[in-house]
Amino acid sequence: MKRIVVGISGSTSVIYGIRLIQTLKEQTDIEIHLVMSKWAEENIRIETNYLPEDIRAMANRAYLPNEMDASIASGSFQVEGMIILPCSMKTLSAVANGYSNNLITRAADVMIKEKRLLVMSPRETPLSSIHLENMLRLSRLGVCIIPPIPSFYSHPKSIDDLIRHHIMKILDQFKISVYESCRWKGNL
Ligand SMILES: Cc1cc2nc3c(=O)[nH]c(=O)nc-3n(C[C@H](O)[C@H](O)[C@H](O)COP(=O)(O)O)c2cc1C
Repeated sequence: MKRIVVGISGSTSVIYGIRLIQTLKEQTDIEIHLVMSKWAEENIRIETNYLPEDIRAMANRAYLPNEMDASIASGSFQVEGMIILPCSMKTLSAVANGYSNNLITRAADVMIKEKRLLVMSPRETPLSSIHLENMLRLSRLGVCIIPPIPSFYSHPKSIDDLIRHHIMKILDQFKISVYESCRWKGNL
């Protein structure tokens, strides 16, 4: 089993994080360790028809953001990597500055110190110089920054198609192939 930590923070577009969990759940060999911030839960209520408890129930393990004694807070707990989707500018800043004030930022800090795969999907617009500098800093540390930017080469017919493309891009980093129809296959 591959263990993947998923952090959902409180920016708009939490549906991306929900679809990620649903996609990972369809894989037979993935153990999902989930932590959602207070504002992620609030945005789930605001923006979707899901309840935070529905999302928690999909994970193999779900933690509270203040559960600093959780397994994923330690580098000795072996995981494949972590995805923060979506990632607020606050969480981005905390991770970029090693400020482990909750379980999402602590687990991300662990990924960086253990040199494990960390993928972050920062969501904000416009981006300030502070946001861009935080992303650059993390990128230089080996963090993979994949903002939720849509692509149109696969002729998406729905918002879900756009979300699937983004999830495909993220899971490619983990060598998990999903949503093959979203790929560019050349101008056939
Ligand atoms: C409806 C709504 C949408 C938001 N969208 C964003 C966003 O797109 N990007 C962002 O950085 N913060 C956004 N925020 C603000 C964050 O929720 C806020 O900064 C929060 O403190 C983030 O905390 P967290 O990173 O621990 O979840 C939004 C807040 C609300 C209520």
